[in-house]
Amino acid sequence: MRTLIYNCRLYINGKIIENCFILLDDCFIKDFGIENGVKVSYDAKYNAKGRLILPGIIDAHVHLRDQMLSYKEDFKSGTASAVLGGVTSVIDMPNNLPPTDDPAKLKDRINLAKDKILVNVGFTCKPSIDYVINRELIRQGAIAFKAFVYEYIDDNINLGFLDKIMSAIAEMNKKLMLHCNIKASYKEVINLVKRRNMAKLCKIEGYLTERVLSLAAKHGTKIHICHVSCPVTLKTINQYKDLVDVTSEVTIHHLILNYDLVERIGPLAHVDPPLKSKYTAKTLFKLLREGYIDIIVSDHAPHALNEKCLSDPKPGFPNLQLMMPILLTQVKKGNLLLSDVIERASRKPALIFKLEKRGAIERGYYADLVEVDLKRKFKVKSDMLISKAKYTPFEGMTLIGLPIRTYVNGICVNDDYMIIGRGGEGMILTSEVSHYGAKSEASA
Ligand code: DOR
Ligand code: ZN
Repeated sequence: MRTLIYNCRLYINGKIIENCFILLDDCFIKDFGIENGVKVSYDAKYNAKGRLILPGIIDAHVHLRDQMLSYKEDFKSGTASAVLGGVTSVIDMPNNLPPTDDPAKLKDRINLAKDKILVNVGFTCKPSIDYVINRELIRQGAIAFKAFVYEYIDDNINLGFLDKIMSAIAEMNKKLMLHCNIKASYKEVINLVKRRNMAKLCKIEGYLTERVLSLAAKHGTKIHICHVSCPVTLKTINQYKDLVDVTSEVTIHHLILNYDLVERIGPLAHVDPPLKSKYTAKTLFKLLREGYIDIIVSDHAPHALNEKCLSDPKPGFPNLQLMMPILLTQVKKGNLLLSDVIERASRKPALIFKLEKRGAIERGYYADLVEVDLKRKFKVKSDMLISKAKYTPFEGMTLIGLPIRTYVNGICVNDDYMIIGRGGEGMILTSEVSHYGAKSEASA
């Protein structure tokens, strides 16, 4: 099946070019360029009406939930949120119920997901100290490992268990994604915010990052530091760049929001790691532009509304649907370049997690594309969210740039900001040969 997208604008070699086309052949990009009267045969066509087409975002930090947490989110509602947010691939975290921590559970999760997903999904697993189990996790399709450092801290903070884990995955050529923070309770966060002093939390984030990177240097483990929320952490990461294969991410909320919002709206802005000061957010933005942070993620972490209203509210909120509009609004404001968005939200995540033929508009690459309407301005409202979690700390913010159409593996799954995919259009992402289903990359 050949699909022609015509009358579009493309960002090529640093410039936006008018009157372009993209020709898709099944799930791949066959050709693209300036229309110039070129005649091609096709089975279906879409008129982009002069709108810009970008590579879909690859969001490397997402909690899709489902299984026993499907009351918070399921594969369909989570990946539909991605589609409307211009996100065409996501990497799922393992803190599920049951947790994704052994090969059988991973297999169950993949089997459950494959017919429901509207975007491509890669799965991470909690690593084992057993080399054989880790090998099997990869064989079953794990794309990376993810560990929450606070789960391994004993009284002496000796991280002995994590040391063993790092050794057990060192040669596997897979990233170990690390959450390098302690869990701060909402009450504690409120107290710190009142004093306008998050130094304690930043000190811990920087300290734990230093500790894990020194272990990684010993074992040769490849590390990805999740949701960096303090500049000091980046300084540490930078110091280890020559010793460790280390990359880092920042969330859209740590770039744009700050703890004033926690004072204003309370638990709905509670997240782990907690929001920091306006000055810190600005500094993170600057460090992102300067290349000290590799990628931008959503950390989409939906919870039921009642769980957000407890005295000890769950941390996190649903961000996927706002990803592209938030980033394009920052471009409009002059805080980011369009090339930064493409680099940090599409190309680089594909490189870091070895997602072959994704993350760019190139011939032979998967047709994961987003048509954006850069003129469409809208005010964020909770009831527009397709996630099961109908609240957002971005409520009331005016954004510009709406993903009008989203193509996943060459299939249009969002037409005019309406989900038309039925589920199953997304593939299970693996960075090795996949063993799953007709829709795995290996058989595509
Ligand atoms: O805010 C967060 N929510 N941070 C985490 O590390 C976990 C996540 C979740 O799963 O809810
Ligand atoms: Zn997370």
